[in-house]
Amino acid sequence: MEERILLSEKEIPQQWYNVQADLLKPMAPPLNPGTNQPIKPEELYPIFPKGLVAQEMSQERWIDIPDEVLEVYRLWRPSPLCRARRLEKALGTKAQIWYKNESVSAAGSHKPNTAIAQAYYNKIEGVKRLSTETGAGQWGSALSLACQFFGMKCTVYMVKVSFQQKPYRRIMMETWGAEVHASPTNLTDSGKKILAEFPDSPGSLGIAISEAVEDAAKHEDTNYSLGSVLNHVCLHQSVVGLEAKKQMKLAGIYPDIIIGCVGGGSNFAGICFPFVPDKLAGKPLRFVAVEPKVCPSLTRGKFAYDFGDTVGLTPLLKMFTLGHKFVPPPVHAGGLRYHGMAPLVSFLAAEGMIEPRAYQQKEVFDAALLFARTEGIIPAPETGHAIKAAIDEAKAASGEKVILVNFSGHGHFDLASYDAYLNGKMVELELSEEALKKSMGEVK
Ligand SMILES: Cc1ncc(COP(=O)(O)O)c(C=O)c1O
Repeated sequence: MEERILLSEKEIPQQWYNVQADLLKPMAPPLNPGTNQPIKPEELYPIFPKGLVAQEMSQERWIDIPDEVLEVYRLWRPSPLCRARRLEKALGTKAQIWYKNESVSAAGSHKPNTAIAQAYYNKIEGVKRLSTETGAGQWGSALSLACQFFGMKCTVYMVKVSFQQKPYRRIMMETWGAEVHASPTNLTDSGKKILAEFPDSPGSLGIAISEAVEDAAKHEDTNYSLGSVLNHVCLHQSVVGLEAKKQMKLAGIYPDIIIGCVGGGSNFAGICFPFVPDKLAGKPLRFVAVEPKVCPSLTRGKFAYDFGDTVGLTPLLKMFTLGHKFVPPPVHAGGLRYHGMAPLVSFLAAEGMIEPRAYQQKEVFDAALLFARTEGIIPAPETGHAIKAAIDEAKAASGEKVILVNFSGHGHFDLASYDAYLNGKMVELELSEEALKKSMGEVK
Protein backbone atom coordinates (compact mmCIF):
# COMPACT_ATOMS: atom_id res chain seq x y z
CA MET A 1 0.00 0.00 0.00
CA GLU A 2 1.25 3.49 -0.85
CA GLU A 3 2.23 5.50 2.20
CA ARG A 4 2.71 8.96 0.75
CA ILE A 5 -0.30 9.97 -1.30
CA LEU A 6 0.54 12.72 -3.74
CA LEU A 7 -1.94 14.36 -6.08
CA SER A 8 -1.05 16.21 -9.26
CA GLU A 9 -1.63 19.97 -9.34
CA LYS A 10 -4.72 19.38 -11.49
CA GLU A 11 -6.30 17.83 -8.40
CA ILE A 12 -6.20 21.03 -6.31
CA PRO A 13 -9.83 21.70 -5.37
CA GLN A 14 -11.37 24.30 -7.68
CA GLN A 15 -13.98 25.29 -5.08
CA TRP A 16 -13.95 25.84 -1.33
CA TYR A 17 -16.51 23.95 0.78
CA ASN A 18 -18.80 26.02 2.99
CA VAL A 19 -20.10 23.97 5.92
CA GLN A 20 -22.74 26.64 6.65
CA ALA A 21 -24.82 25.12 3.85
CA ASP A 22 -25.04 21.82 5.69
CA LEU A 23 -25.78 22.91 9.26
CA LEU A 24 -29.00 21.43 10.59
CA LYS A 25 -30.06 24.68 12.21
CA PRO A 26 -28.94 28.29 11.70
CA MET A 27 -26.04 29.66 13.69
CA ALA A 28 -26.50 32.67 15.96
CA PRO A 29 -25.43 35.68 13.85
CA PRO A 30 -22.63 38.11 14.80
CA LEU A 31 -24.05 41.17 16.57
CA ASN A 32 -23.32 44.87 16.49
CA PRO A 33 -22.21 45.52 20.11
CA GLY A 34 -23.85 48.97 20.04
CA THR A 35 -27.33 47.81 19.02
CA ASN A 36 -27.21 44.07 19.80
CA GLN A 37 -28.74 43.56 16.33
CA PRO A 38 -27.30 41.18 13.70
CA ILE A 39 -24.45 42.91 11.94
CA LYS A 40 -25.18 44.14 8.41
CA PRO A 41 -22.63 43.47 5.65
CA GLU A 42 -21.99 47.21 5.12
CA GLU A 43 -20.99 47.60 8.78
CA LEU A 44 -17.97 45.39 8.05
CA TYR A 45 -16.85 47.28 4.92
CA PRO A 46 -14.57 49.73 6.79
CA ILE A 47 -12.18 46.88 7.62
CA PHE A 48 -12.97 43.98 5.24
CA PRO A 49 -13.40 43.81 1.43
CA LYS A 50 -16.89 43.10 0.12
CA GLY A 51 -15.79 39.78 -1.41
CA LEU A 52 -14.78 38.38 1.97
CA VAL A 53 -17.84 39.80 3.76
CA ALA A 54 -20.01 38.01 1.19
CA GLN A 55 -18.17 34.75 1.90
CA GLU A 56 -18.50 35.31 5.65
CA MET A 57 -22.28 35.35 5.33
CA SER A 58 -22.70 32.97 2.41
CA GLN A 59 -24.92 29.90 2.65
CA GLU A 60 -23.67 28.54 -0.70
CA ARG A 61 -22.14 25.07 -0.35
CA TRP A 62 -19.40 25.56 -2.97
CA ILE A 63 -17.51 28.77 -3.74
CA ASP A 64 -15.20 29.02 -6.76
CA ILE A 65 -11.52 29.58 -6.01
CA PRO A 66 -10.26 32.42 -8.25
CA ASP A 67 -7.57 31.51 -10.81
CA GLU A 68 -5.14 34.03 -9.28
CA VAL A 69 -5.41 32.21 -5.93
CA LEU A 70 -5.08 28.76 -7.54
CA GLU A 71 -1.96 29.96 -9.31
CA VAL A 72 -0.30 30.66 -5.95
CA TYR A 73 -1.73 27.51 -4.31
CA ARG A 74 0.13 25.56 -7.00
CA LEU A 75 3.45 26.56 -5.38
CA TRP A 76 2.87 23.95 -2.66
CA ARG A 77 -0.57 22.38 -3.12
CA PRO A 78 -1.78 19.67 -3.14
CA SER A 79 0.05 18.90 0.09
CA PRO A 80 1.07 15.29 0.75
CA LEU A 81 -0.91 12.87 2.88
CA CYS A 82 1.57 10.60 4.65
CA ARG A 83 1.33 7.51 6.78
CA ALA A 84 3.32 7.78 10.02
CA ARG A 85 4.43 4.16 9.79
CA ARG A 86 7.58 4.61 11.89
CA LEU A 87 5.60 6.36 14.62
CA GLU A 88 3.02 3.53 14.54
CA LYS A 89 5.86 1.01 14.94
CA ALA A 90 7.35 2.90 17.88
CA LEU A 91 3.94 2.87 19.55
CA GLY A 92 3.34 -0.80 18.76
CA THR A 93 -0.17 0.08 17.59
CA LYS A 94 -2.38 -1.58 15.01
CA ALA A 95 -3.99 1.78 14.27
CA GLN A 96 -2.99 3.64 11.12
CA ILE A 97 -1.88 7.24 11.65
CA TRP A 98 -2.05 9.47 8.57
CA TYR A 99 -0.98 13.10 8.59
CA LYS A 100 -1.86 15.82 6.12
CA ASN A 101 1.36 17.75 5.83
CA GLU A 102 0.51 21.46 5.72
CA SER A 103 4.07 22.37 6.77
CA VAL A 104 5.17 22.27 3.11
CA SER A 105 4.01 25.82 2.34
CA ALA A 106 6.69 28.53 2.12
CA ALA A 107 5.56 29.98 5.45
CA GLY A 108 5.60 26.53 7.05
CA SER A 109 1.95 26.05 7.95
CA HIS A 110 -1.66 25.91 6.75
CA LYS A 111 -2.01 29.69 7.17
CA PRO A 112 -1.20 30.70 3.54
CA ASN A 113 -4.36 28.83 2.38
CA THR A 114 -6.38 31.80 3.63
CA ALA A 115 -3.68 34.51 3.55
CA ILE A 116 -3.39 34.20 -0.24
CA ALA A 117 -7.17 34.34 -0.67
CA GLN A 118 -7.56 37.31 1.70
CA ALA A 119 -4.77 39.31 0.06
CA TYR A 120 -6.32 38.63 -3.36
CA TYR A 121 -9.83 39.82 -2.42
CA ASN A 122 -8.40 42.97 -0.82
CA LYS A 123 -6.15 43.66 -3.80
CA ILE A 124 -8.97 43.53 -6.35
CA GLU A 125 -10.91 46.09 -4.29
CA GLY A 126 -7.99 48.54 -4.32
CA VAL A 127 -6.71 48.09 -0.75
CA LYS A 128 -3.06 49.11 -0.39
CA ARG A 129 -2.13 47.75 3.05
CA LEU A 130 -3.28 44.97 5.39
CA SER A 131 -2.88 45.05 9.16
CA THR A 132 -3.00 41.93 11.27
CA GLU A 133 -2.04 40.23 14.51
CA THR A 134 0.20 37.21 14.93
CA GLY A 135 0.84 34.89 17.85
CA ALA A 136 3.50 32.33 17.03
CA GLY A 137 4.42 34.28 13.91
CA GLN A 138 2.98 31.68 11.50
CA TRP A 139 0.01 33.81 10.50
CA GLY A 140 2.05 37.00 10.24
CA SER A 141 4.54 35.20 7.98
CA ALA A 142 1.76 33.84 5.80
CA LEU A 143 0.13 37.25 5.34
CA SER A 144 3.50 38.95 4.72
CA LEU A 145 4.14 36.43 1.95
CA ALA A 146 0.65 36.90 0.50
CA CYS A 147 0.94 40.71 0.53
CA GLN A 148 4.30 40.45 -1.17
CA PHE A 149 2.81 38.28 -3.94
CA PHE A 150 -0.06 40.73 -4.52
CA GLY A 151 2.04 43.94 -4.22
CA MET A 152 0.55 45.23 -0.96
CA LYS A 153 2.04 46.53 2.29
CA CYS A 154 1.63 44.52 5.50
CA THR A 155 1.76 45.63 9.16
CA VAL A 156 1.95 42.89 11.78
CA TYR A 157 1.24 43.29 15.51
CA MET A 158 3.14 40.37 17.01
CA VAL A 159 2.32 39.19 20.55
CA LYS A 160 5.22 40.47 22.67
CA VAL A 161 6.16 37.12 24.23
CA SER A 162 6.48 35.52 20.77
CA PHE A 163 8.30 38.59 19.40
CA GLN A 164 10.90 38.02 22.13
CA GLN A 165 11.00 34.21 21.84
CA LYS A 166 11.01 34.05 18.03
CA PRO A 167 13.24 36.65 16.38
CA TYR A 168 13.56 34.49 13.27
CA ARG A 169 9.83 34.67 12.58
CA ARG A 170 10.06 38.46 12.73
CA ILE A 171 13.00 38.41 10.30
CA MET A 172 11.04 36.11 7.98
CA MET A 173 8.13 38.58 7.91
CA GLU A 174 10.54 41.48 7.29
CA THR A 175 12.21 39.49 4.50
CA TRP A 176 8.82 39.30 2.79
CA GLY A 177 8.47 43.05 3.22
CA ALA A 178 6.27 43.44 6.32
CA GLU A 179 6.60 45.89 9.21
CA VAL A 180 6.45 44.08 12.56
CA HIS A 181 5.66 45.55 16.01
CA ALA A 182 5.76 43.90 19.47
CA SER A 183 2.21 44.13 20.82
CA PRO A 184 1.04 45.84 23.00
CA THR A 185 2.60 48.91 21.31
CA ASN A 186 2.46 52.62 21.94
CA LEU A 187 1.26 53.11 18.36
CA THR A 188 -2.46 52.55 18.96
CA ASP A 189 -4.94 53.70 21.60
CA SER A 190 -5.71 50.03 22.32
CA GLY A 191 -2.04 49.24 22.99
CA LYS A 192 -1.59 52.36 25.13
CA LYS A 193 -4.66 51.44 27.19
CA ILE A 194 -3.29 47.96 27.95
CA LEU A 195 0.22 49.26 28.72
CA ALA A 196 -1.18 51.88 31.13
CA GLU A 197 -2.88 49.10 33.09
CA PHE A 198 -0.28 46.32 32.64
CA PRO A 199 3.12 47.78 31.70
CA ASP A 200 4.68 44.27 31.65
CA SER A 201 1.91 42.67 29.61
CA PRO A 202 3.28 39.67 27.60
CA GLY A 203 0.57 40.48 25.06
CA SER A 204 -2.07 38.14 23.70
CA LEU A 205 -3.78 37.51 20.39
CA GLY A 206 -6.83 39.41 21.70
CA ILE A 207 -4.73 42.53 22.37
CA ALA A 208 -2.88 42.31 19.04
CA ILE A 209 -6.22 41.98 17.22
CA SER A 210 -7.46 45.19 18.91
CA GLU A 211 -4.37 47.02 17.67
CA ALA A 212 -4.62 45.71 14.12
CA VAL A 213 -8.38 46.42 13.86
CA GLU A 214 -7.85 49.96 15.15
CA ASP A 215 -5.03 50.53 12.64
CA ALA A 216 -7.30 49.43 9.76
CA ALA A 217 -10.31 51.41 10.98
CA LYS A 218 -8.23 54.61 11.20
CA HIS A 219 -6.61 54.35 7.75
CA GLU A 220 -8.63 54.66 4.55
CA ASP A 221 -6.21 52.59 2.41
CA THR A 222 -5.85 49.81 4.98
CA ASN A 223 -7.95 46.75 5.75
CA TYR A 224 -7.72 44.25 8.56
CA SER A 225 -7.03 40.57 8.01
CA LEU A 226 -7.72 37.79 10.52
CA GLY A 227 -5.85 34.49 10.38
CA SER A 228 -8.46 32.31 12.05
CA VAL A 229 -11.88 32.28 13.76
CA LEU A 230 -14.07 33.81 11.04
CA ASN A 231 -16.27 31.81 8.66
CA HIS A 232 -14.38 32.87 5.54
CA VAL A 233 -11.10 31.67 7.06
CA CYS A 234 -12.60 28.23 7.82
CA LEU A 235 -13.94 28.24 4.24
CA HIS A 236 -10.50 28.83 2.69
CA GLN A 237 -8.96 26.12 4.85
CA SER A 238 -11.40 23.55 3.47
CA VAL A 239 -8.86 22.80 0.71
CA VAL A 240 -7.01 20.74 3.37
CA GLY A 241 -9.90 18.37 4.09
CA LEU A 242 -11.06 18.22 0.47
CA GLU A 243 -7.62 17.06 -0.65
CA ALA A 244 -7.29 14.65 2.28
CA LYS A 245 -10.63 13.07 1.40
CA LYS A 246 -9.49 12.49 -2.20
CA GLN A 247 -6.14 11.13 -1.05
CA MET A 248 -7.71 8.70 1.43
CA LYS A 249 -10.05 7.47 -1.27
CA LEU A 250 -7.04 6.79 -3.51
CA ALA A 251 -5.44 4.84 -0.67
CA GLY A 252 -8.67 2.89 -0.20
CA ILE A 253 -9.20 4.05 3.38
CA TYR A 254 -11.59 6.25 5.35
CA PRO A 255 -10.87 7.89 8.72
CA ASP A 256 -12.42 6.77 12.00
CA ILE A 257 -11.02 9.79 13.83
CA ILE A 258 -9.95 13.22 12.57
CA ILE A 259 -7.75 15.31 14.83
CA GLY A 260 -6.57 18.92 14.77
CA CYS A 261 -5.21 21.40 17.26
CA VAL A 262 -7.35 24.47 17.91
CA GLY A 263 -6.25 28.05 18.48
CA GLY A 264 -8.99 30.01 16.72
CA GLY A 265 -10.10 26.78 15.04
CA SER A 266 -9.16 27.21 11.36
CA ASN A 267 -6.85 24.25 10.63
CA PHE A 268 -9.20 21.97 12.53
CA ALA A 269 -12.13 23.33 10.53
CA GLY A 270 -10.12 22.88 7.34
CA ILE A 271 -9.51 19.18 7.83
CA CYS A 272 -12.88 18.29 9.44
CA PHE A 273 -15.58 20.34 7.76
CA PRO A 274 -15.50 18.56 4.37
CA PHE A 275 -16.27 15.36 6.34
CA VAL A 276 -19.24 16.89 8.23
CA PRO A 277 -21.85 15.83 5.60
CA ASP A 278 -20.61 12.21 5.98
CA LYS A 279 -21.01 12.38 9.75
CA LEU A 280 -24.46 13.89 9.40
CA ALA A 281 -25.32 11.04 7.04
CA GLY A 282 -24.47 8.59 9.81
CA LYS A 283 -20.79 7.66 9.31
CA PRO A 284 -19.30 6.74 12.70
CA LEU A 285 -16.66 9.43 12.46
CA ARG A 286 -15.13 11.28 15.43
CA PHE A 287 -13.71 14.83 15.36
CA VAL A 288 -11.20 15.59 18.15
CA ALA A 289 -10.17 19.22 18.78
CA VAL A 290 -7.08 19.73 20.93
CA GLU A 291 -6.16 22.80 22.97
CA PRO A 292 -3.70 23.68 25.77
CA LYS A 293 -4.85 23.20 29.36
CA VAL A 294 -3.89 26.81 30.10
CA CYS A 295 -6.12 28.20 27.33
CA PRO A 296 -9.13 25.89 27.51
CA SER A 297 -11.82 27.72 25.56
CA LEU A 298 -13.61 24.56 24.34
CA THR A 299 -13.10 22.44 27.45
CA ARG A 300 -13.82 25.09 30.11
CA GLY A 301 -15.16 28.18 28.34
CA LYS A 302 -18.74 29.45 28.06
CA PHE A 303 -20.75 29.28 24.82
CA ALA A 304 -21.83 32.90 24.73
CA TYR A 305 -21.59 36.17 22.81
CA ASP A 306 -18.21 37.84 23.29
CA PHE A 307 -15.80 40.17 21.54
CA GLY A 308 -13.14 38.70 19.26
CA ASP A 309 -10.53 41.11 20.63
CA THR A 310 -9.52 42.31 24.08
CA VAL A 311 -10.48 45.95 23.89
CA GLY A 312 -13.95 45.34 22.43
CA LEU A 313 -13.69 46.73 18.88
CA THR A 314 -15.04 43.71 16.97
CA PRO A 315 -18.62 42.49 16.50
CA LEU A 316 -19.94 40.12 19.16
CA LEU A 317 -19.50 36.49 18.13
CA LYS A 318 -21.34 33.51 19.60
CA MET A 319 -18.52 31.20 20.53
CA PHE A 320 -16.82 29.27 23.29
CA THR A 321 -14.87 31.92 25.16
CA LEU A 322 -12.78 32.43 28.25
CA GLY A 323 -13.70 36.11 28.27
CA HIS A 324 -12.20 38.71 25.95
CA LYS A 325 -9.91 40.07 28.67
CA PHE A 326 -8.39 36.66 29.34
CA VAL A 327 -4.60 36.72 28.87
CA PRO A 328 -3.40 33.11 28.62
CA PRO A 329 -0.15 32.09 30.35
CA PRO A 330 2.77 32.26 27.88
CA VAL A 331 2.89 28.64 26.66
CA HIS A 332 5.21 27.93 23.76
CA ALA A 333 2.28 27.16 21.46
CA GLY A 334 1.68 30.87 20.89
CA GLY A 335 -0.83 30.21 18.11
CA LEU A 336 -3.16 28.48 20.57
CA ARG A 337 -3.23 31.41 23.03
CA TYR A 338 -6.62 32.82 22.02
CA HIS A 339 -9.58 33.40 24.33
CA GLY A 340 -12.28 32.38 21.85
CA MET A 341 -13.05 29.73 19.25
CA ALA A 342 -14.38 29.97 15.69
CA PRO A 343 -18.19 30.33 15.83
CA LEU A 344 -18.52 27.44 13.35
CA VAL A 345 -16.31 25.13 15.44
CA SER A 346 -18.10 26.34 18.60
CA PHE A 347 -21.51 25.67 17.08
CA LEU A 348 -20.58 22.10 16.10
CA ALA A 349 -19.00 21.51 19.52
CA ALA A 350 -22.17 22.74 21.23
CA GLU A 351 -24.15 20.33 19.02
CA GLY A 352 -21.97 17.48 20.30
CA MET A 353 -20.31 16.88 16.91
CA ILE A 354 -16.80 17.65 18.18
CA GLU A 355 -14.90 16.16 21.12
CA PRO A 356 -12.72 18.79 22.79
CA ARG A 357 -9.59 17.79 24.67
CA ALA A 358 -6.79 19.65 26.52
CA TYR A 359 -3.16 18.84 27.32
CA GLN A 360 -0.27 20.27 29.35
CA GLN A 361 2.71 21.53 27.37
CA LYS A 362 5.30 18.97 28.55
CA GLU A 363 3.22 15.98 27.44
CA VAL A 364 2.72 17.76 24.13
CA PHE A 365 6.49 18.11 23.69
CA ASP A 366 6.97 14.40 24.65
CA ALA A 367 4.68 13.60 21.72
CA ALA A 368 6.27 16.14 19.36
CA LEU A 369 9.73 14.75 20.11
CA LEU A 370 8.62 11.19 19.42
CA PHE A 371 7.17 12.35 16.09
CA ALA A 372 10.38 14.20 15.21
CA ARG A 373 12.50 11.17 16.08
CA THR A 374 10.37 8.68 14.15
CA GLU A 375 8.98 10.64 11.19
CA GLY A 376 11.73 13.26 10.96
CA ILE A 377 9.65 16.43 10.72
CA ILE A 378 9.80 18.69 13.76
CA PRO A 379 6.23 19.72 14.63
CA ALA A 380 5.28 23.27 15.60
CA PRO A 381 4.29 23.30 19.30
CA GLU A 382 0.70 23.93 18.21
CA THR A 383 0.78 20.88 15.94
CA GLY A 384 2.29 18.87 18.82
CA HIS A 385 -1.11 19.06 20.52
CA ALA A 386 -2.74 17.21 17.63
CA ILE A 387 0.12 14.69 17.51
CA LYS A 388 -0.30 13.99 21.24
CA ALA A 389 -4.00 13.24 20.72
CA ALA A 390 -3.22 11.03 17.70
CA ILE A 391 -0.74 9.05 19.79
CA ASP A 392 -3.23 8.66 22.65
CA GLU A 393 -5.96 7.54 20.24
CA ALA A 394 -3.60 5.06 18.56
CA LYS A 395 -2.60 3.61 21.94
CA ALA A 396 -6.24 3.32 23.02
CA ALA A 397 -7.45 1.85 19.72
CA SER A 398 -8.48 -1.74 19.61
CA GLY A 399 -7.87 -3.01 16.10
CA GLU A 400 -7.11 -1.13 12.93
CA LYS A 401 -8.55 2.32 13.46
CA VAL A 402 -7.61 4.93 10.85
CA ILE A 403 -6.54 8.23 12.38
CA LEU A 404 -6.22 11.37 10.26
CA VAL A 405 -4.33 14.24 11.85
CA ASN A 406 -3.71 17.69 10.47
CA PHE A 407 0.02 18.43 10.60
CA SER A 408 -0.61 22.17 10.71
CA GLY A 409 2.99 23.38 10.69
CA HIS A 410 6.67 22.69 11.31
CA GLY A 411 8.61 23.95 14.30
CA HIS A 412 11.79 25.18 12.63
CA PHE A 413 11.32 28.60 14.19
CA ASP A 414 10.29 27.13 17.53
CA LEU A 415 13.59 25.51 18.36
CA ALA A 416 14.06 27.67 21.47
CA SER A 417 11.06 25.87 22.94
CA TYR A 418 12.59 22.49 22.02
CA ASP A 419 15.81 23.70 23.65
CA ALA A 420 13.91 24.51 26.85
CA TYR A 421 12.24 21.10 26.74
CA LEU A 422 15.43 19.15 26.00
CA ASN A 423 17.37 20.92 28.74
CA GLY A 424 14.76 20.48 31.45
CA LYS A 425 13.98 24.20 31.49
CA MET A 426 10.40 23.96 30.32
CA VAL A 427 8.05 24.96 33.10
CA GLU A 428 4.54 23.57 33.35
CA LEU A 429 2.34 26.64 33.42
CA GLU A 430 -0.84 26.66 35.44
CA LEU A 431 -4.07 28.52 34.90
CA SER A 432 -5.28 30.00 38.16
CA GLU A 433 -8.92 29.40 38.94
CA GLU A 434 -9.12 33.00 40.07
CA ALA A 435 -7.90 34.41 36.73
CA LEU A 436 -10.38 32.24 34.82
CA LYS A 437 -13.28 33.17 37.07
CA LYS A 438 -12.46 36.85 36.71
CA SER A 439 -12.31 36.88 32.90
CA MET A 440 -15.33 34.58 32.55
CA GLY A 441 -17.25 36.87 34.88
CA GLU A 442 -17.25 39.47 32.10
CA VAL A 443 -19.06 37.12 29.69
CA LYS A 444 -22.81 37.52 29.79
C1 LIG B 1 1.26 25.74 13.18
C2 LIG B 1 -0.02 26.24 13.73
N1 LIG B 1 -1.00 25.37 13.99
C3 LIG B 1 -2.18 25.78 14.52
C4 LIG B 1 -2.41 27.10 14.81
C5 LIG B 1 -3.72 27.48 15.42
O1 LIG B 1 -4.53 28.24 14.61
P1 LIG B 1 -5.91 27.69 14.06
O2 LIG B 1 -6.67 27.12 15.23
O3 LIG B 1 -6.57 28.83 13.44
O4 LIG B 1 -5.57 26.63 13.07
C6 LIG B 1 -1.43 28.05 14.55
C7 LIG B 1 -1.67 29.48 14.82
O5 LIG B 1 -0.82 30.31 14.76
C8 LIG B 1 -0.20 27.60 14.00
O6 LIG B 1 0.77 28.47 13.74
